Amino acid sequence: MAREVTHHADEPYKIDEDEFEEQGRDIAICRCGLSSNKPHCDGSHRACADEEDGVVYRYKNDERRVVSDD
Ligand code: FES
Repeated sequence: MAREVTHHADEPYKIDEDEFEEQGRDIAICRCGLSSNKPHCDGSHRACADEEDGVVYRYKNDERRVVSDD
């Protein structure tokens, strides 16, 4: 089964230690969809840094392709 999901975020959601006291450090939750360690951010969002508005990208096997643009 395959599923295509569109994400617009290009950085993680960070839970600060006040929200998550027992961890003693910030927790970063992936919002870009590229992390291989979900739900945690693994830094893969850096691949999204130069994405352009209005362009749809597909990421697969560490490759990025433009699917459509306006
Ligand atoms: S936000 Fe997805 S890997 Fe960091």
